[in-house]
Amino acid sequence: MTAEPLEIYLEERDLERGLRDDVRAGLSAGQKWLPPKWFYDARGSELFEEITRLPEYYPTRAERAVLAERAPDIAALTGAKTLIELGSGSSEKTRLLLDALTGQGGLGTFVPLDVSVSALRGSTAQIAADYPGLRVRGIVGDFTRQLDRLPTGGRRLVVFLGGTIGNLLPAERAGFLTAMRAALEAGDWLLLGTDLVKDPSVIVPAYDDAAGVTAEFNRNVLRVINRELGADFDPEAFAHVALWDPDHEWIEMRLRATRPMRVRVLGMTVDFAAGEDLRTEVSAKFRPEGIAAELATAGFDTTDFWTDPGGLFGVTLARAR
Ligand code: SAH
Ligand code: AVI
Repeated sequence: MTAEPLEIYLEERDLERGLRDDVRAGLSAGQKWLPPKWFYDARGSELFEEITRLPEYYPTRAERAVLAERAPDIAALTGAKTLIELGSGSSEKTRLLLDALTGQGGLGTFVPLDVSVSALRGSTAQIAADYPGLRVRGIVGDFTRQLDRLPTGGRRLVVFLGGTIGNLLPAERAGFLTAMRAALEAGDWLLLGTDLVKDPSVIVPAYDDAAGVTAEFNRNVLRVINRELGADFDPEAFAHVALWDPDHEWIEMRLRATRPMRVRVLGMTVDFAAGEDLRTEVSAKFRPEGIAAELATAGFDTTDFWTDPGGLFGVTLARAR
């Protein structure tokens, strides 16, 4: 079957308005920051895929190991008719779930949702070609704003993989889980991938790889802002920084000005002192008890929690109460 045309919850103009608002707010703050969703233009999505293959970046391999082992259980437990994937990217690991769910005969529709049109175009075309008989409805949307518009009906399983929930700040995360619960009916399922707290000597290299791919991914946000908003950032004049914050138990990616700079964007003049940081991402790491508690607060019961053999990454299956 061919994929259906992408459903657009976010038009080009909504994306540009969102980028403008975030750039205005983030670059005029005392501690400058930008939300991580703007990394993912076509080049950013490709760079992320490259990151997933790096020797230092363990989360993708660890999560794949869990799904490879547990996909049959997940299919049997949920009996999902509709699989919705948030922040789906290439949906590469999701194929393990698609295999199990189509294998048992019940899955009719796959709904990947992502802000990245390029990632969705590629994934929906390939999945539709590889799973004849499966309805593939790609949605261009923002999972922090548009969960109330997800397809309804059927027995639904929502999957949110990769540890992307860790890229939300704690308050955003609570809001996201509450909105997720409101979008579901009691009895619907949520499968949540979370990177786990571990020694920073394992985490930091995953965000500061020897080949410099993560540094390029990080600088890509400046390229997006230059192109979309006509800014004049010099991306090469910013150094990539990955910092472990032991209090928040998250890694922060930053771009550090290597010299004093004046940037013009949206009619604003933004000054950077030498050594000043722009925070571009947090990636929170979780403890099993914390995940279950946050899910319970939002109205989910945790039914299963699995890790890879190395205990690096956790996958939680939860049910809307
Ligand atoms: N789930 C995949 C991809 C993770 S990369 C995996 O596990 O490998 C994070 C993905 O989330 C990217 O494809 C990015 O475009 C998307 N994304 C980031 N913020 C988003 C948002 N607010 N709404 C929708 N998609 C978002
Ligand atoms: C998408 N997300 C879960 C990735 C992460 O690990 O936080 C994004 C990323 N940032 C740097 N490398 C990968």
